[in-house]
Amino acid sequence: MTKVIVIHGPNLNLLGLREPDVYGTRTLAEINEMIRLHAEKLGLEVTIVQSNHEGELIETIQQADERAEVIIINPAGYTHTSVALRDAIAAVRLPTIEVHLSNIFSREQFRHESVTAGVCRGQISGFGADSYILALYAAKRIAEEESS
Ligand code: DQA
Repeated sequence: MTKVIVIHGPNLNLLGLREPDVYGTRTLAEINEMIRLHAEKLGLEVTIVQSNHEGELIETIQQADERAEVIIINPAGYTHTSVALRDAIAAVRLPTIEVHLSNIFSREQFRHESVTAGVCRGQISGFGADSYILALYAAKRIAEEESS
C-alpha cells in the first residue's frame, strides 16, 4: 500500500474560523476526515500532521521517508518565505505535491511567488479542500509510475 504524508503548515489549525470567505467553513478536523476517507478509497495509507513551527515542519519533512513515499504539503504562509522548507523538500527527495486551498495567484502580489513549488512535482491551488483530494490522486499516480 502506498504511504502518503499530508503536512499542514501554520494557521491551518484555525480553518473554519479563519477568513471563511477565503478558506471556507470546514474545520481542519473535517478536512482531515475527508482526506482519510478518500485515501482509503484510493488504497493509500495516510498520515496527517499540522504544525505552526517552521523547524518542526522541517524535521517532519526530513523524517518523512520513514513513514511515506509521497509528501503532500500545504506550507501555508511559509510558501512565500521559507528557503529552509524548500531546502528540506529538495534534500529529502521524496516526490512532493504542494497544495493550497485558495488560488494564490488571484490574491495579493506577495502570495504569487511560491519559494517551495520549484522543488515540488507540482502544485494544486484554488480548489478549497478538494485541492487535497486532487493531490491524493496525483500521489497515487506518482507512486504507481515510480514502482513500474
Ligand atoms: C494557503 C495560502 C497562503 O498564502 C496562506 O498564507 C495560507 C493558506 C492556502 O491554502 O490557500 O495560510 O496556503
